[in-house]
Amino acid sequence: MTEIRRVGVVGLGAMGAGIAQLCVEAGVETVGREVTAELGEAARGRIGHFLTRKVEKGTLQQEARDAAVGRLTTTTELADLAGCDLVIEAIVEELEPKRVLFAELERLCRPDTVLATNTSALSVTEIAAATSSPERVVGMHFFNPAPLMPLVEIVRAQLTADEPFEAAFAFGTRLGKTAVRCHDTPGFVVNRVLIPLLNDCLRVLDEARVSAEDLDTAMRAGAGWPMGPCELVDLVGIDVHVHAAEALYEKLREPRMAPPPRLVAMRNAGLLGRKSGRGFYPYPR
Ligand code: 3HC
Repeated sequence: MTEIRRVGVVGLGAMGAGIAQLCVEAGVETVGREVTAELGEAARGRIGHFLTRKVEKGTLQQEARDAAVGRLTTTTELADLAGCDLVIEAIVEELEPKRVLFAELERLCRPDTVLATNTSALSVTEIAAATSSPERVVGMHFFNPAPLMPLVEIVRAQLTADEPFEAAFAFGTRLGKTAVRCHDTPGFVVNRVLIPLLNDCLRVLDEARVSAEDLDTAMRAGAGWPMGPCELVDLVGIDVHVHAAEALYEKLREPRMAPPPRLVAMRNAGLLGRKSGRGFYPYPR
């Protein structure tokens, strides 16, 4: 099985930076690729900040923090990922850019490099089909915030071979995650359930004329959720949720999958949640 010594992460947004943080904390040399040096530095700053908070809270030693940050290099050149044993893609949730990237990664990386996508709701099989070696393409779907959420779904696409699949599973476990194996179906396991569930919650806003605050309170206090649905879509990103819901609706044609119009309107108005400073709530709260 491919031994994972060096990992590449493409895209250092909320998910990619979280995944890179997990890798360096697990002792793995990590190369993060962003489109500009400034974005790479900003991600390094966020990772450094979260690791510093762990030191302040006494869950990480200062030396371990510094060593972890030292394992991260950032680059704007995809070619710098050539020596990686595993590359995890966490770029924009659109099929075409992902397919272009995977074709490029296939050209740049060794034939035994495992190529993983963190896609939420796109087809891993369709991404893999952009390469001539789809057997080494796998889904590694982390949850937001990646450093805190225990799960990673290891997704077997139509042509994924056993060895890269098991290498991805073992690596997810090495990152300290609870890994589950599943097949490449729309939404995999969690999003297949969570997206229509969140859509239902948001439709209740209008149906029951309940405020966002009260809906969140109700789901925390009445269903034991750690966060209310409005807080959660603000965290995930309203654009990300709408896109995932549209992708599931396109594939499954179930009305509950379609994003509620209120959410589409918010996305169109630039109310994207935490990352834009405003969603259901203003941020910082
Ligand atoms: N990266 C790293 N560290 C982070 C972080 C991040 N993105 N965000 C927060 N932290 C750290 C911070 O240091 C923070 O501490 P600080 O505020 O003192 O600095 C600490 O983690 C937060 O710790 P808390 O003890 O306050 O955490 P909570 O107990 O409040 O739990 C939570 C936070 C784990 C997010 C919890 O509220 C939760 O489980 N929420 C539900 C999240 C969820 O359902 N996510 C899945 C979304 S669906 C998805 O991702 C699928 C995708 O495909 C769309």
